[in-house]
Amino acid sequence: MGSLFSRVYDAAMQPLEATRFKQVRTELIGKAKGRVLEIGSGTGINFPYYKNAIRVDAIEPNPSMSKRAGDRLRNARVQIQVHETGAEALPFDNDTFDTVVATLVFCTIPYPIKALAEIQRVSKPGAVLLFFEHVRMEPFLLSKSQDLLNPLWEKVCDGCQLNRETLTLIKESGIEVTKVKAYYAKLFLYIEGLNMEK
Ligand SMILES: C[S@@+](CC[C@H](N)C(=O)[O-])C[C@H]1O[C@@H](n2cnc3c(N)ncnc32)[C@H](O)[C@@H]1O
Repeated sequence: MGSLFSRVYDAAMQPLEATRFKQVRTELIGKAKGRVLEIGSGTGINFPYYKNAIRVDAIEPNPSMSKRAGDRLRNARVQIQVHETGAEALPFDNDTFDTVVATLVFCTIPYPIKALAEIQRVSKPGAVLLFFEHVRMEPFLLSKSQDLLNPLWEKVCDGCQLNRETLTLIKESGIEVTKVKAYYAKLFLYIEGLNMEK
């Protein structure tokens, strides 16, 4: 069965996926090359978009989400392995990955600073780090509305924080941000960065 969130996720996302998100995922996942780590792969919504990767290791702690990735996993054009674990303690050696992908996931990771440190540890120096995330908005009224809605939102959406300042966290982690593109009044950000560690 799994949580209500995992059961309705794909259907709830469909209106966005069919329009703008399809274009964003095509661009973002198209840049994933070599050995790729995907953080919080959920129902495998990104899997059909991989075409340039050698191999993808996807991590997803919630089996109710990953069990819904079956068809996308079987039909993927590249080899993908899903690992049942969280981003705060990654089961990979230092300097393993050429690219890391995280889409709509940093809102939900309980300890995002730890996760960003782990991403830098397991990715190679100069690795490409690709994010698509919703964030706290800039206009006062909108960000205050996000703050007010958040207690209910996190209950309904499996811990998702509507008002997390993910771009700031990424910059503070030491990742060099090389490109940012905003969507839907800067609610969603496409972020490219480089691992500057070591
Ligand atoms: C909103 S879904 C996003 C799924 C998919 N990445 C997408 O683009 O639609 C957030 C996902 O993050 C996962 N998640 C929650 N805590 C996590 C953690 N500590 N590390 C990695 N993923 C986590 C959830 O289980 C869920 O599948």
